[in-house]
Amino acid sequence: MARKMVVANWKENPRTEAQALKLFAAIHAAMGGPQKHGTDVVLCPPFIYLEDIAHAFRKVKKSTPAGCFALGAQDAFWEERGAFTSEVGPKMLRSLGMEYVILGHSERRKYAHDTDAIINKKVKLALKDGLKVILCVGEAPAVRERGAAAARRFVKAQLKKDLAGVSKASVIVAYEPLWAIGTGHFDEPADAAEMLAFIKDFLIETCGLKAKVLYGGSVDGRNVGDYIQYKSIDGALVGGASLNTKEFIKIITT
Ligand code: PGA
Repeated sequence: MARKMVVANWKENPRTEAQALKLFAAIHAAMGGPQKHGTDVVLCPPFIYLEDIAHAFRKVKKSTPAGCFALGAQDAFWEERGAFTSEVGPKMLRSLGMEYVILGHSERRKYAHDTDAIINKKVKLALKDGLKVILCVGEAPAVRERGAAAARRFVKAQLKKDLAGVSKASVIVAYEPLWAIGTGHFDEPADAAEMLAFIKDFLIETCGLKAKVLYGGSVDGRNVGDYIQYKSIDGALVGGASLNTKEFIKIITT
């Protein structure tokens, strides 16, 4: 089976830097253990911890198999520098050693009002500045209630807007139905697999992008295997369960 990818989205957690470093160390230690698929793991801590985690990461990088452990940020601004109070640009993140950035997460769309137009600007600059983009898309419960075809139309429209003008780039898409995020309600693996296959085909046809596509939404140690058994599911974007060391290790070793 092809290598799978697991992205940990720590969101606004953990509470202290010491806890963040402890979590990082435990996950790194587990990376040396047996992994069925040789999982690629990307950790995305909050901005405030990135510098120290990047420092710890540099120290252990040599002892981790190449390509299977990387760091990312949870957002990046659409301008490189300037009078943009509190914002962080992709070049700044690159300079700290970040390889990935999550963009368009539904919580950014909801609480920070990131529109598709804003996300598109962020995607373009992040790619230009050398970050690999993990673009999140997914429909709200009201859309899904109208059926799978409505959900596909919604996701397609998001992808079109978020990736306008983007081709042949390092983009990974995470499909996260909103009703499954942090709720304990997860999508049926077979339904998710179908949606991910649809996303892959759409990306190839419209953007010429051969992208990895991940599923996200209440993935944990118990259900991860049900998802990644599908060929179209390249891995998972994990929120809550990525903060629990035992649970996360189970996910990356499944
Ligand atoms: P969850 O979050 O795993 O807690 O559902 C996923 C996400 O928001 O990326």
